Amino acid sequence: MSEPTPRILNHHQIGEAVQILREGGLVAFPTETVYGLAGNATNDRAIAEIFAVKGRPQFNPLIIHVPNVIVARQIAIFDGRADAIAARFWPGPLSLVLKRQKDCPISLLASAGLDSIALRVPAHELALDLLRRIGVPLAAPSANRSGRISPTKAAHVREELGSRIAAILDGGACEIGVESTVLDLSGPHPSILRPGGVTQDEIEEIIGELALPGSEPTIVPRSPGMLASHYAPNLKVRLNATSARRGEALLAFGPAEPPSGFAEVKSLSADGDLNEAAANLFSLLRSLDCAAFTGIAVMPIPERGLGIAINDRLRRAAAPRHSS
Ligand code: TXA
Ligand code: MG
Repeated sequence: MSEPTPRILNHHQIGEAVQILREGGLVAFPTETVYGLAGNATNDRAIAEIFAVKGRPQFNPLIIHVPNVIVARQIAIFDGRADAIAARFWPGPLSLVLKRQKDCPISLLASAGLDSIALRVPAHELALDLLRRIGVPLAAPSANRSGRISPTKAAHVREELGSRIAAILDGGACEIGVESTVLDLSGPHPSILRPGGVTQDEIEEIIGELALPGSEPTIVPRSPGMLASHYAPNLKVRLNATSARRGEALLAFGPAEPPSGFAEVKSLSADGDLNEAAANLFSLLRSLDCAAFTGIAVMPIPERGLGIAINDRLRRAAAPRHSS
């Protein structure tokens, strides 16, 4: 009998992950933000397979992962602002959208036919090891079915994608827990297309004031991935809950006693620590997403620091669902 898929690989088995990727297969791997579903970014068939496995619309481009800024420069055009941002935040939870180089080797499908491309250097030893060994950039969206909660543990990836992928490289729980900030430097006015692990203030310290990000989810997004409904559990999500509704589970935050009457209470951070809350967010949403409850209520989360990325994900989790 053949081995069940996906195979769960540990760091000693990274060579097997490299082999699968070289053959055009897909491997899920850990980063400091969330688990990614990786394929060779120069291989159109591998990219097409990523879209198919995720059920992702092909107008939504992928982030390209590279081991360092030298490789990044072969792919996209860096100006002074991009150099400064890369020097400050890479490796780390920030993706830069830049113009593609003329002879850019990356599959056009990966950037959905746009003349720009999103790049990042992840701050995770296993991810960097994989990138250095394979020697080609890896396209990697979050390793969930399109529109669903992003995975922060290997077991989540298996739940989401199961035997659709050959292997998962297991690096334990992701430290940050929300995706990278997507910063658009492809035009004259820098703007944040997706709030994430690096905050607006940290970016503004380096390149000055940014164009205001749309804080409301929009249907016609600048960043094609910013669809209104995303990160969605099966259950309905209700934000800023101050009292219980029958049968609901509660995602609590902070030291204050949570409102009574919930069927279950899990805390994002009892200390009110936004970094801890981000790291727990997707994992707790997933654990409360079961038929035992009628919905998931969430206590208010402050709109500062990583709270901005957390609230962005929660608003999308609570948004009306698309039918397709
Ligand atoms: O933390 C992360 O960024 C994770 C890990 C695995 O690295 N990856 C991730 O990828 O979240 P994904 O594909 O789920 O999100 C990519 C985001 C989408 O919102 C997409 O629209 C945007 O980046 N994006 C990619 N290329 C773009 C481009 N050329 N222009 C504008 N937005 C782009
Ligand atoms: Mg995603």
